[in-house]
Amino acid sequence: MAHDVPPLTPFPLDVLLRRIALEFETRNRIYDLPTARYWKPDPDVDLSFEFLGRPAATPVGPAAGPHSQLAQNIVLSWLAGARLFELKTVQIIDDLEIARPCIDMETVGFNTEWSQELKIGESLEEYVKAWMIIEILKRWEPLRPYLGRDTGPFVFDMSVGYDLAGISSPKVEGFITAMLDASDEIERLRPLIPDAFGAMRDLDFGTRVADTVTLSTFHGCPPDEIESITKYLMDHHGLDVIVKLNPTLLGFGRVCEIVQQQLGYEHIRLNRQSFTDDLQFDRGVALIEELRSYAKARGRRFGVKLTNTLVVENHKGFLGDDPMYLSGAPLHVLATTLLDELISALPNTFMVEGHDGDVQVSFSAGITKENLSEAIGMGVRPTTVCSDLLKPGGYGRIAPMLSRLADDMRAVGAYSLQSWRTHEWNVAKAAGFRGAAHAHMVAMLSGDLNSIYHLTGNEKLPRHVDHNLEMWGCVACNFCVTVCPNDAFFRLPTPKSMDVPGRQQYFVLAEACNECGNCMVFCPEVGDPAQIKPKIYLDPSRFAATVDQGFLVAPSGSGFTITASEGHESDVTRLAEIFHADEGWPIPLK
Ligand SMILES: Cc1cc2nc3c(=O)[nH]c(=O)nc-3n(C[C@H](O)[C@H](O)[C@H](O)COP(=O)(O)O)c2cc1C
Ligand code: SF4
Ligand code: SF4
Repeated sequence: MAHDVPPLTPFPLDVLLRRIALEFETRNRIYDLPTARYWKPDPDVDLSFEFLGRPAATPVGPAAGPHSQLAQNIVLSWLAGARLFELKTVQIIDDLEIARPCIDMETVGFNTEWSQELKIGESLEEYVKAWMIIEILKRWEPLRPYLGRDTGPFVFDMSVGYDLAGISSPKVEGFITAMLDASDEIERLRPLIPDAFGAMRDLDFGTRVADTVTLSTFHGCPPDEIESITKYLMDHHGLDVIVKLNPTLLGFGRVCEIVQQQLGYEHIRLNRQSFTDDLQFDRGVALIEELRSYAKARGRRFGVKLTNTLVVENHKGFLGDDPMYLSGAPLHVLATTLLDELISALPNTFMVEGHDGDVQVSFSAGITKENLSEAIGMGVRPTTVCSDLLKPGGYGRIAPMLSRLADDMRAVGAYSLQSWRTHEWNVAKAAGFRGAAHAHMVAMLSGDLNSIYHLTGNEKLPRHVDHNLEMWGCVACNFCVTVCPNDAFFRLPTPKSMDVPGRQQYFVLAEACNECGNCMVFCPEVGDPAQIKPKIYLDPSRFAATVDQGFLVAPSGSGFTITASEGHESDVTRLAEIFHADEGWPIPLK
């Protein structure tokens, strides 16, 4: 079903770049991320790896999801240290109607959001804009003290779904072709580079934005379809391919045993049919063998991604759809178990210690600062993250993850990821395990890590106060700013002269908010910040379609004007006073 009003309206390249210049100069932040949260490489510890043969400076990045859809999201991840970007899944249906809310990170993760909410052409533009902005920021002198002189290589990895008919349609084919050679898109966008970055207007941007793909197989995708799509992507587009596998490969009985009995999530209701519909373990093993030799014969690279989310019934009733998809801590245990089982079933196949295979394992399941080192020690590369970045701190959680990994490596004298993997393998073997994945799995299921993954370690709810959220004033915890994957929230100090409660005021950039619900989950006050805080529009047509409160900020002379939706005119003076005081309005309009 098509939307009357699109859920997201991306900001043009010139607005995004001008905002960077202004925000950095006036607040030492970019898209609300303070410089203290940027990743500066440790000169002693090399965190680089090869993604299907392409160099990337760190083994961490956003998983296909809300953090890799809009250009500003991708730039935020890069500032924070991500160097492998699994871009939001693109598919033929590009006017999806997703029920809201669609993200629930209250404890472990649940979501019902499964592909891009932009038109395919807009997705292409977002990825190319992000590519250009990162190339510009890599060379931007003011950032050097915070990022170092050499920010290292990064990789954009496409994600496509969900069936061969869609993937081979002219629409998706055109997207892939344009990602392989984005010269037209780059030249179209180049004139929008504003004067603040004028020195970079003639930059020789690489035109091959992405030449790898992670195939997002939908729950229930038949094995023959997975095989055909993978071969098509290799043959028709010359891509190296990673196939995303589902945790249902472990079988209904094993998943029940792990999730409900060993980890204590008895209230999570599994759907037996979804296990029957999905790829079965033996067929999965045969599929990996077949695709591995198919790729090898054609000089292509092939890998698997562990894992997709787990289909569960919507027992909470918070999300707008049923079923919903589980991520986070329990998925980490399932994906690790699946890795261990696949390594045992297919010896010498995977690129992990002791096996010397060539099938790369990308890992995306409940990665946090606490388990990144163990995950990397299992041999997986890269690790991509979604749920953890939706918790308070947001993108700012990436740099501490990398610092912890570097510290753990340094502590045992490992200065490259290879030596860290060897160290972890030796430790696991010395303790009698099959390998590092086996050791990590046992520690989580019955050993000293169990309490972290068990229900009892994941029951704590976000803090709440007994106060109804209002448009002006709140406890000013800043959570809505950091948990929003789209950077739709920003804050400004309350001018001393103003008679409104609170030392900071919070605003929503309505065009960047798809009403996912994540800020509502973490807001300590009662109410939905995305609906209650002033909604700021920059796009007159989006503003014209608004039926509730909203304020259009439009350029006028050297400043701007503010227009309120009906019934909210009395708040315009307040907004103007805040936007003109202290830090000032953060987004240059022209
Ligand atoms: C809100 C949300 C949206 C997601 N969207 C996609 C998607 O578009 N395509 C996809 O292949 N996976 C999607 N995923 C799955 C993630 O890429 C990732 O594999 C999964 O969440 C496990 O990682 P995590 O435990 O770190 O969240 C999404 C996950 C979440 C939570
Ligand atoms: S402002 Fe809130 S509801 Fe809107 S996209 Fe951000 S987190 Fe989601
Ligand atoms: S709106 Fe809610 S989440 Fe945002 S700063 Fe105020 S209290 Fe915190």
